[in-house]
Parts: sequence; C-alpha cells; structure tokens
Amino acid sequence: MTEKLINELCLLVETACKSENNIYGYGIWTHHIKPMIPLGLELAEEYGADKEIVTVAILLHDLAAIEDEKNSKAHHRIGAEMAEKILSSHNYPPEKREKVKACILNHRSSVNNEKTSIEEICVADADAIIHLKECPSLFYSAYREMGMTIGEGKKWVREKLLRDYRKLSERSREKYRTEFEVLTGLLNSVQ
Ligand SMILES: [Fe+2]
Ligand SMILES: [Fe+2]
Repeated sequence: MTEKLINELCLLVETACKSENNIYGYGIWTHHIKPMIPLGLELAEEYGADKEIVTVAILLHDLAAIEDEKNSKAHHRIGAEMAEKILSSHNYPPEKREKVKACILNHRSSVNNEKTSIEEICVADADAIIHLKECPSLFYSAYREMGMTIGEGKKWVREKLLRDYRKLSERSREKYRTEFEVLTGLLNSVQ
C-alpha cells in the first residue's frame, strides 16, 4: 500500500476535522473515519476487495461535509470531485482514482446509488457498521447535538441502527446480525 499517500491523507483529513468549520467536531475523526479504516480492511480481507482503494476512499468519503456543512446533502458527489483533485495532485493513477471516486459517490445507502464493485460495498458497509461499533457517538449526537430527551434519544439511536442494518450488503448483514440484534434489543427493552 502507498503508505506515504495514506499518511498524507490522514493528516489532511484529521486537520480538516480539527478545524472550526467542521460542525461535526473532532469526534468524526476519532470515532468515525479513523476506526472505519481497520473495519474496512477487515471487510476487504474477507470479501476480497482492494485494501488500498478501500482505505483511500474511507479517508476521503466525508471530507466534503467536514470542510463545509453546505456540502452535506451532496457530500458524496462533491466528495468524489474533491477526491479527483486531491488524488491527481498526488499523481495517483487515473484508474485507481475512478475506483476511489465510485466508493465515495456510492457510500450513502440513503442515496439510491447502485454499487458495482466490492470496494464500494466495503466502504458503504463500514460506514453503517461503525455506528454499531461506535454507538456512544450516536448517543452523543442525540443528546448533546440534537438536545433529545432520554427516551427520544434511545428511540432515535435504535431506529438509526435498524436503518443501518437494513442498508448492509447481505454478507455483512449475516456477519453482524447478532451484534445488531443485541444492541437494538437492549435499546428496545429498557424503558
Ligand atoms: Fe457520508
Ligand atoms: Fe461516513
């Protein structure tokens, strides 16, 4: 893997996450993007995807929204355009750029884009599974950022996790079934 490029991208994205312009806070680096990398690599290993493409795409997938909240709705599309500029400035090969851009463009399951490669599936699945692995950050959003009551937050987190689960590829749904069931079951039972 091109370690130098990965390190440079880590620095670029982490710096953007630290900026005051980033409305999601530094947590989007520490509890979303950074832990998505080992998760994406694990999926890539298991599903036979290109680890480098998955890593580069994970690093850049939310950058457009992090840099400017106005991009949030179209951050998949704008993010793919940003990736083109960033990666071409690093002389990243055009065919690899296209693969990374497809992962970014199709990482949002809420936006009904067809995933055509296994790398796209790994990035989109990791983006949903990380909410399970890092579920305290969902509670943080519910209570701290959205000011929900305890009951509202519990319901919101449970529904979010159920939506994430439904979006997963069949393979990941099978792999993470028990973990999702346990967590959403707990959120369901406690009043
Ligand atoms: Fe995103
Ligand atoms: Fe994301």
